[in-house]
Amino acid sequence: MIAATRRAVLAGAGALAACSRASAEPPAGPLPPLKAAAPFPLGVCAMSEQFDDLGWSELVRTHFDRVTPEWEMKAEAYAKPDGSYDFSRADRIVDAAARRGLSAFGHTIVWYSQVPRRFEALDGDRRAFAEAYRAYVTRVAGHFAGRVAGWDVVNEPVLDDGEGYRDCLWRRNLGMDYVRLAFEHAREADPEAVLFLNEYNLEQLPAKRADFLRLAESLLKAGAPIGGLGTQTHVPADLKSGAIRQTVRELGALGLKVHVSELDVSLNRGPGLLSSRQALLDGQKRIVEEAAGALLDLPPAQRWGLTVWGARDRDSWLRRPPENGGRSDDAPLLFDDEGRPKPVAHALAAALGR
Ligand code: G3I
Repeated sequence: MIAATRRAVLAGAGALAACSRASAEPPAGPLPPLKAAAPFPLGVCAMSEQFDDLGWSELVRTHFDRVTPEWEMKAEAYAKPDGSYDFSRADRIVDAAARRGLSAFGHTIVWYSQVPRRFEALDGDRRAFAEAYRAYVTRVAGHFAGRVAGWDVVNEPVLDDGEGYRDCLWRRNLGMDYVRLAFEHAREADPEAVLFLNEYNLEQLPAKRADFLRLAESLLKAGAPIGGLGTQTHVPADLKSGAIRQTVRELGALGLKVHVSELDVSLNRGPGLLSSRQALLDGQKRIVEEAAGALLDLPPAQRWGLTVWGARDRDSWLRRPPENGGRSDDAPLLFDDEGRPKPVAHALAAALGR
């Protein structure tokens, strides 16, 4: 029985996918600069080679205030196997952004998913590990000091299932103090940047959100120099209404700055695969409006900004296999493959100007 049902569901989804390519939304006409309508910074993720694409570069310069390196300011790009650093790719992004009047946001120094190889050799030697950790965080934060407005100092420390915090090499050698120490070492190297704790799925998983907030509160109690909280907001177009508003409200209650840090709204994810294409497009607009409204509901001093995880649909990580099960027909962003503003971009502009 289950097999037959599954085949029917997939056939339905497949049929929808086929018709979705045929019934993409028509472009929505010219859009005034989004950043002119926004009472807080609008950001977009960037890769160094995109600055050589005039279409991308002009679109970003027109509508956005700030860029977040999508992958080139992470250990996978700058930490070399011999323990040396090569920041050249991230430097190209920061410098190209500055030439276009865009600021930069650092992403990310301490992540369970990318631990520089030299730390593996120190695993278990607490003193040496702690010394290398301080040297690592201060080296990275110090290199970009004065050139980034803020940092995702620690990314994704919380488990999805409400069972607390991720196990990782950092935690195995420093305990959960690895989070507080990362903030302290980053502040030591960069006295100005606003330092963030960043996480995903906070909208969909209240238990994860509670663990995230507990960690943030413990950092504040310990006097860690945390200045902001990032909620990535990679969400499906059928996300429950109010989930983003509730999340931003709860993060804002700690009094820190709040960053919707990696917004995209997938049409191909989530349980609503069987919703009509138009229902998913309407859901996408509702979600983007809710994200803008949630930030506007915060006191101005707490509105760090809204960053989308890509400019044009074809720039999205969700269009690169194996994401979305390798499907390449998602449309999760504000501008279409040709860089034309979609109705969702106009919906954002209207919400920003409320
Ligand atoms: O394009 C380069 C190529 O020039 C290079 O030679 C090759 C060498 O490995 O890598 C290619 O870059 C890949 C890059 O994506 C662009 O496609 C990297 O291998 C790959 O690791 C990188 O993946 C990024 C991923 O984080 C891991 O860093 C994705 O772009 C990026 O969208 C994704 O972003 C994450 C956030 O940091 C945290 N939140 C979730 C979000 C989505 O997973």
